[in-house]
Amino acid sequence: MRIDVVSLFPEFIAQCAAFGVVGRAGERGLMSLHGWNPRDHAEGNYRRVDDRPFGGGPGMVMLIDPLRACLRAVREADPRPARVIYMSPQGRPLDQAKVRELAACERLILLCGRYEGVDERLLQAEVDEELSIGDYVLSGGELAAAVVVDAVARLQDGALNDAESAVQDSFEDGLLDCPHYTRPVAHELGVVPEVLMSGNHARIARWRRMQALGRTWLRRPDLIDEAALTPADRALLEA
Ligand code: ADE
Repeated sequence: MRIDVVSLFPEFIAQCAAFGVVGRAGERGLMSLHGWNPRDHAEGNYRRVDDRPFGGGPGMVMLIDPLRACLRAVREADPRPARVIYMSPQGRPLDQAKVRELAACERLILLCGRYEGVDERLLQAEVDEELSIGDYVLSGGELAAAVVVDAVARLQDGALNDAESAVQDSFEDGLLDCPHYTRPVAHELGVVPEVLMSGNHARIARWRRMQALGRTWLRRPDLIDEAALTPADRALLEA
């Protein structure tokens, strides 16, 4: 898949493409990431990208024309239809189901705002949906776009190594992950649960499932209703 990110700080996005799972997805030809700067599409000596808001108030609002010209250039760079997503705290909250949906798209364009926002007319005309990464305000959409890029990259077929895929699977059912331990068995901070060293894979799987259910129930009861629970899971929770 191809992701284009429109941002006043495209270098920020280039950093995402350099490391870890996203970097590997790029090297393996599973995903390409491109940064675009609306300032390169602004007119005049000052290449202005923002102006004061009508009606007064603090801050600056991003101008329609540089963004529009930039989006036109992005579309022209690849003929495939693209979904345009504006990263904003007013958007629908991102979750794993949405990440899966986006990961199946051939092309995404992520639009990052700065300052107080973007002229509403541009959003109405060009944006397909708004996405938020949480109920807090960032100073721009770049970190939010990086979150989308990372979450989507790891779902591309072949992006994860086997060990990472196994971890991924444990999230796919909508529950929080179980705790993990490694050597040493005994440490001044505690001892590894005996069951994990039993070699009994059925017992280990059951223990992990119980831990995942218990944690989710304690920490995020809101997820339990949405999770894909088996009758055995329900029995455990109702016990
Ligand atoms: N831009 C600023 N805050 C944001 C948020 N919480 N989610 C997505 N984009 C944002």
